[in-house]
Amino acid sequence: MDRTAQLTARATGRGIVYDPLSTAPPAASLHVRAARVLAANWTGTSTVPSRHLYPHQWSWDSAFIAIGLRHLSPLRAQTELETLLAAQWGDGRVPHIVFSPSVPLDAYFPSPDFWRSSTAGRAAGAPRTVQTSGIVQPPVHALAAWLVHRADPGLSWARGFLARVYPRLAAWHRYLLRRRDLGGGGLVSVVHPWEQGMDNSPCWDGPLARVTPAPARSFRRADLDHGAPEDRPTDLDYGRYVRLAADYRDGEYADGDGEFTVEDPSFNALLIASEHALARIAAELGSPGTARHARAERLTAALVERLWDDASGMFLCRDLHGGTIHERSVSGLVPLLLPGLPREVSGALLDTLRGTHFAARTGLVPSYDLRGPAFEPNRYWRGPAWFNTAWLVERGLRAHGEKAAADALRTAFLHAAGDSGFAEYVDPDTGEACGAPGFGWTAALTLDLLHDRDGAMETGEEGGDRG
Ligand code: SER
Repeated sequence: MDRTAQLTARATGRGIVYDPLSTAPPAASLHVRAARVLAANWTGTSTVPSRHLYPHQWSWDSAFIAIGLRHLSPLRAQTELETLLAAQWGDGRVPHIVFSPSVPLDAYFPSPDFWRSSTAGRAAGAPRTVQTSGIVQPPVHALAAWLVHRADPGLSWARGFLARVYPRLAAWHRYLLRRRDLGGGGLVSVVHPWEQGMDNSPCWDGPLARVTPAPARSFRRADLDHGAPEDRPTDLDYGRYVRLAADYRDGEYADGDGEFTVEDPSFNALLIASEHALARIAAELGSPGTARHARAERLTAALVERLWDDASGMFLCRDLHGGTIHERSVSGLVPLLLPGLPREVSGALLDTLRGTHFAARTGLVPSYDLRGPAFEPNRYWRGPAWFNTAWLVERGLRAHGEKAAADALRTAFLHAAGDSGFAEYVDPDTGEACGAPGFGWTAALTLDLLHDRDGAMETGEEGGDRG
């Protein structure tokens, strides 16, 4: 821990409490260290989340990484998104992994020979020249593209960046809205926990219990070569992930109601924020964005109608086969990002954030209910605090005029990111580093919070709550 952090953090019996009234750590050194992580993870055309644990390009990682990279190199940020979108499938899906041909097959599992995108994905229009997975991840990309454009409009216009990415982003949203409204209520469903991004969240324990795991001897986990087993999902969870992905592949990636079909608040909120961003991109390119803003508003209404839970004061996931999932996860707080929420909903979300289920000692936001029966402070998405969700909540607090709370979360974020060596995630009470060190989006979003203090996300039509 550096000297500023020592001055601003109090060691307690249980760990570190960052003083929300303290100033953030020195910006210049954090900037340099974060930039070094992104330089080390840069491949020439995109950024790996982590050199060892995740040695390819990941979809939502790249979007968050581009949001930070725009402060270092708008050109690299544009390239990051363009590389990902070049691997888009003909049906519009943006795959969750784009594989690097120079990385050995056994460096990551499931590898390209598991997904077999160019054969099993042929009917869905998978690209022939690049290998990808066949599932998706949260649609943060249009939001990222808009923020990247705004960082250097001159370069963006000179390279025709928006004109090139707009049709691909529009096709991506079309895929989600047309092929993934599996519940028929206007919201998008995910068909695999890896699609939602919070892989082993206790929210999935119920729906996953129905899935027969693939036999342990039928695959070899590569993640345990680089990550501590107690920080990673269990073998039983992995068996179920493999079964779901293999079944989807064997059905040639055709979409329909499968064994795991879930409507998730964070995934849908990110789609709404991105739909507003796409409206702004359309307007910038000279066509009206009004219809897109209106669609985003309809999606917001569907999100509230289908996933809001008054009793817990937050959004909950919905299992299309089992109904409402009563576990509280950070996913249910991410919609705070949307300025167009009804005022009673945003007010309740703010109370929940400050309440006993989510107020962690570091000032960060745990991925799962601190008081929940499944809480584990170190294990991936079952409790640890992650930096992308903290960034989303910080931007949400700012969008709702909660400046003091946003400043406190920003300070906690910057201290924890720097002290942990830009860890993948941290114990929400002690700040102890977990998962991979030198993690791409942790470094990138550190840069964003250092350089974009106002958080001008423009995730709504005009901003402000609805009464
Ligand atoms: N997050 C997953 C992993 O751990 C897959 O995207 O590999």
